[in-house]
Amino acid sequence: MKYNFDEIVERRGTDCLKYDGMAKFYGSDDNLPMWVADMDFRTPDFILDALKKRLEHPVLGYFNHTERFRQAISSWVLRRHNWRIDNDWILFSPGVVPALAAIVLAFTEPHDKIIVQPPVYHPFFYVIENQNRKIIENPLKLDGENYLFDFEDLEMKLKEGAKLLILSNPHNPVGRCWKPEELRKLSEMCLAYNCIVVSDEIHSDLMINGNRHTVTANLSPEIACNTITCMAPSKTFNMAGLSTSEIIVSNEGYREKINHVLTDGIHIHCGNIFGDVGLIAAYENGDEWLAQLLDYLTENVNYAKRFIKEKLPVLKTFNHEATYLLWVDFSDCGLTHAELAKKLVCEAHLALNDGSIFGRGGAKHFRINLACPKSTVTEALIRLEKTFSKYNP
Ligand SMILES: Cc1ncc(COP(=O)(O)O)c(C=O)c1O
Repeated sequence: MKYNFDEIVERRGTDCLKYDGMAKFYGSDDNLPMWVADMDFRTPDFILDALKKRLEHPVLGYFNHTERFRQAISSWVLRRHNWRIDNDWILFSPGVVPALAAIVLAFTEPHDKIIVQPPVYHPFFYVIENQNRKIIENPLKLDGENYLFDFEDLEMKLKEGAKLLILSNPHNPVGRCWKPEELRKLSEMCLAYNCIVVSDEIHSDLMINGNRHTVTANLSPEIACNTITCMAPSKTFNMAGLSTSEIIVSNEGYREKINHVLTDGIHIHCGNIFGDVGLIAAYENGDEWLAQLLDYLTENVNYAKRFIKEKLPVLKTFNHEATYLLWVDFSDCGLTHAELAKKLVCEAHLALNDGSIFGRGGAKHFRINLACPKSTVTEALIRLEKTFSKYNP
């Protein structure tokens, strides 16, 4: 079956953050919304149908995460990422960010140090700072069009005694799909300094141009023992509103600690019936839909990059290997960050993510969500061209 990703789905009036929440963040709701990291595509029918079927039963009481739920996850990671796991390694969390917060609680005390690699997904900062832990930055470095780990700096930071490193694999917002040798080096350094790696792999299914995701924990048994993996069907299948994700931990001691926080500590282990139904439907039936989605996203990313290179050389894009979120550098326009942000909203009428939220290295950069019909991407690019081509070299 051929899925139609060109369809424009009217999302306004559904209380969705991307459209109906836009005015609060951008001052008006008449921008083209290319910010919140969800997709404008329909959640696939095999998921919607499963949810409708569950609604045929009239009782929505408490429920258990079943063996089928765990099996759907372990089969998916084996099929998609060549990662063989035991069903017992899986813990439920109502989202990856809540999982990160629980992991911070489980393994650290107030004032303990936790490493992040900016520019990076902003809630990494919140789960550390808002629980009174200390952020240690190991900024990515740029080599031409390629963002890289800075291992020299990492070693210095590890020597300061960090307890955890929160890794974005693949990386949001810069779009790198980290290679096995990069992940191995990072993981082995963390292992040598007793720093646990928390690998946020929520975007791992979203590979562009045929790149292959490497599960950090799958690199060696020693690395597996020191790694906690967070995954979810939410980005892949556009079902973030179902608040359902999985934490996968082979190290039994670590798993017990996290489970203790999730269950006895903050009691967020239950979830909702629809999340489990959606996850099972997604992971059991999603391969063909995902293959077509990845072709479509790859086309959108390559199209946007080509357009920018040809018509807007003042803007810079990077080696983009994963995620539907394109990271764009506006520094050569010669404007301040505030001027750029204002022009984007007031002149281009585009709601993009402001790069400064991602921390160091984010100023004068903006993130564009390309998970939308190609006609929307075209409209966004034309608006960018109208506003910024006068700054072209
Ligand atoms: C790297 C990363 N982690 C986590 C999340 C959000 O996870 P959740 O909605 O499951 O809390 C996002 C959403 O954009 C993300 O990009």
